[in-house]
Amino acid sequence: MTSLVELHLHLEGAAPPAFIRGLAQEKGVSLEGVFNEDGTYRFETFEQFLRTYEAATTVLTGPEEFRRLTAAVLEQSAAQGVIYTEAFLSPNFCGGGDLGAWREYLAAIEEAAEAARRDSGIIMRGVVTCIRHEGPEAAKPDAICAAETMGDFITGFGMGGAETVGHQGDYAYAFDLAREAGLRLTTHAGEWGGAASVWEAVRDLKVERIGHGVQCVEDPALVDHLAEHGIVLEVCPGSNVALGVVPSWDAHPIERLRQAGVKVTVSTDDPPFFHTSLTREYDMLAETFGWDDAVMRDVNLTATEAAFCDAATKEILRQKLEPKHV
Ligand code: ADE
Ligand code: ZN
Repeated sequence: MTSLVELHLHLEGAAPPAFIRGLAQEKGVSLEGVFNEDGTYRFETFEQFLRTYEAATTVLTGPEEFRRLTAAVLEQSAAQGVIYTEAFLSPNFCGGGDLGAWREYLAAIEEAAEAARRDSGIIMRGVVTCIRHEGPEAAKPDAICAAETMGDFITGFGMGGAETVGHQGDYAYAFDLAREAGLRLTTHAGEWGGAASVWEAVRDLKVERIGHGVQCVEDPALVDHLAEHGIVLEVCPGSNVALGVVPSWDAHPIERLRQAGVKVTVSTDDPPFFHTSLTREYDMLAETFGWDDAVMRDVNLTATEAAFCDAATKEILRQKLEPKHV
């Protein structure tokens, strides 16, 4: 099995539907409108996706649920050949931004991550995310949670949610706080907000990676800027196709961006929502753009370089990406 490195995975978004349904049954709650009849997550538009996502998280009521979720997600990823995953963790879903509660959730998540590492070798790091549509004030306690728990496991800070709300720069206080604490930074930009949103992310939040970023293709000067400054894109092609950011795999700009010298990486975002896995993403890239093993290895090495982890961990990953291990 080919070894893969993933930089953009929302922990709750990776929850298998059966896992969420099982928890709902245990708790005797009905999740109205969350599932299709065939058991998959129900949504059509991005707004509906966010609503379904948030409704599903309501059964994740405490640290124990997050311990079980982390175990399920890492087992799923390891089975796909993922050797390293950076998961977005949001204090909003883990204690509502309260630092004491966050520490308890985090301890449970870390415990599950350590157990998964022992079982399958998969390495996980956490990137604390604020949620854009919750507004700039709500982002501050998220940044404090991140700064107070930064260490071997929590290594980054970022932002997800509805990119159509406000501006990247509205969240500069939270990002400045996180940067000053020593956290590495990424934000969702150029998924829905166009090239302007990517410029704002780079200039106003000074991030070193961009979640998605694919709409940068609208602006050749921006593409040049990203290439020149080595700003890494966490591209999630299957997510983009499923949510209608791009009309089809053929129309996806990932190969054009790679050819233009932009550092692209490949991730799944919320795999069960988009009926994907990291293996499927690479299979589709091979089929659509002719990516061979050499391109795939190169992209995974780019992801390793851009990972928010220490040098010793990167060395372990590089060794696993050596052709003899493939
Ligand atoms: N949260 C989970 N998935 C997301 C996406 N694709 N865009 C923004 N926020 C998200
Ligand atoms: Zn995302």
